[in-house]
Amino acid sequence: MTEYYSTQTNFYGDSSPEKLIKEYGSPLYVYNEKILRQHCRDMKNLVDYPNFIPNYSIKANSNLQIIKTVHEEGLRADAMSAGEIRLLLHAGYKPEELFFVPNNVSEAELRYAVENGVLVSVDSLSQLELLGKINPGGNAAVRFNPGVGAGHHEKVVTAGKKTKFGVNIDCVAQVKEIAKKYNLRICGVNQHIGSLFMEGDSYIEGVKSLLSVAGQFEDIDFVDMGGGFGIPYKKQEGQASLDLASFREKLTKVLEQWTDKYGKKILFKSEPGRYIVAECGILLGTVYAVKNNYAHRYVGTDIGFNVLARPVMYDSHHDIEAYRDGKPLNAEAAEEVTVVGNICESGDIIAKDRALPAIQEGDILGIMDAGAYGFAMSSNYNMRLRPAEVMIRENGEAVLIRRRDTFEDLIAPFNV
Ligand code: LLP
Repeated sequence: MTEYYSTQTNFYGDSSPEKLIKEYGSPLYVYNEKILRQHCRDMKNLVDYPNFIPNYSIKANSNLQIIKTVHEEGLRADAMSAGEIRLLLHAGYKPEELFFVPNNVSEAELRYAVENGVLVSVDSLSQLELLGKINPGGNAAVRFNPGVGAGHHEKVVTAGKKTKFGVNIDCVAQVKEIAKKYNLRICGVNQHIGSLFMEGDSYIEGVKSLLSVAGQFEDIDFVDMGGGFGIPYKKQEGQASLDLASFREKLTKVLEQWTDKYGKKILFKSEPGRYIVAECGILLGTVYAVKNNYAHRYVGTDIGFNVLARPVMYDSHHDIEAYRDGKPLNAEAAEEVTVVGNICESGDIIAKDRALPAIQEGDILGIMDAGAYGFAMSSNYNMRLRPAEVMIRENGEAVLIRRRDTFEDLIAPFNV
């Protein structure tokens, strides 16, 4: 580990971690617009096929400014809930740019999508029936479970033989039967095999399997291959990024072979979330206490699992940088510490036994690659305020894109 990621990328532009915290408070989510835009472009280049478009999966980060920036880059979007549809329409997306891929939702939620003109994909025969009743004669897509899964943790593997998602690929006949009953047109099929793969083989296997299902429908318009593209969370150990060039070559071949056989240059889509936003985000926090408790040295910060849930929920690793007096600390590791937050649970750990430079009170820590499923999964647990979010513009300027919660926000929903 020689140079910090934030230094290599000039992440903070004209600002510094210290200035940002002084102005916007601690903890603080900081996003870099240039990195965000680059990742959007990478995903638009995923295959060398003219009729391809990525849908940004906004569950990874639903900050309005981020959504708008991704839209400017020409991506469409996926929604998982009526709330996400509402936000996307508010952000300026047209209904036809959206794809609703929910799981076990109410009639009211399906109706909300249909009435707003958003195409729905269902992931069970029950929900296909319900959609047919609500929208007879309409278009529908079906999410299949291709029988293969992938992911960084069993909690995020969303296909294969042990998950709740998708319609089994041997249920095509039942899908057709229900579609016929309600005069629904199956206009597309989709899948999402899981989150975070670093080599693309299982994704390509899943695509092949989905294409074999797609071929059983006579006239579909699109196949949505899902998201899950990983990013290197262990850059300080030299972990490399996904090899998109070789992935592109392999995937393009598979798609072209299939469209030649099918006889129609259908639209292909993907659903990236993490890849778009993870690396453009750093979570800053402040060290308030350093101590030795028996055999362990603890660095106590304001980055509790209410702010970043991933390490506690999935044992996820995030690289950590340390800053003092506005500058990066010498990155060479000096001691092994456990970095913890301020939530009253002993599991509130960001990094266990991590080798870091010698940290002292008042230092600022940067939690790397926190742009995906960071703020999106944050909460007010312990009645803590969710942090502000700031974007470093391409011209280096820092702008506030969501204010920090206030005490009033905590009290407002109560009607007693
Ligand atoms: N499409 C569907 C239907 C999904 O369920 C997901 C994510 C995505 C697309 C986007 O997947 P991505 O490209 O971001 O891997 N909170 C976990 C990840 C949960 C992913 C849930 N589904 C984490 O922090 O690792």
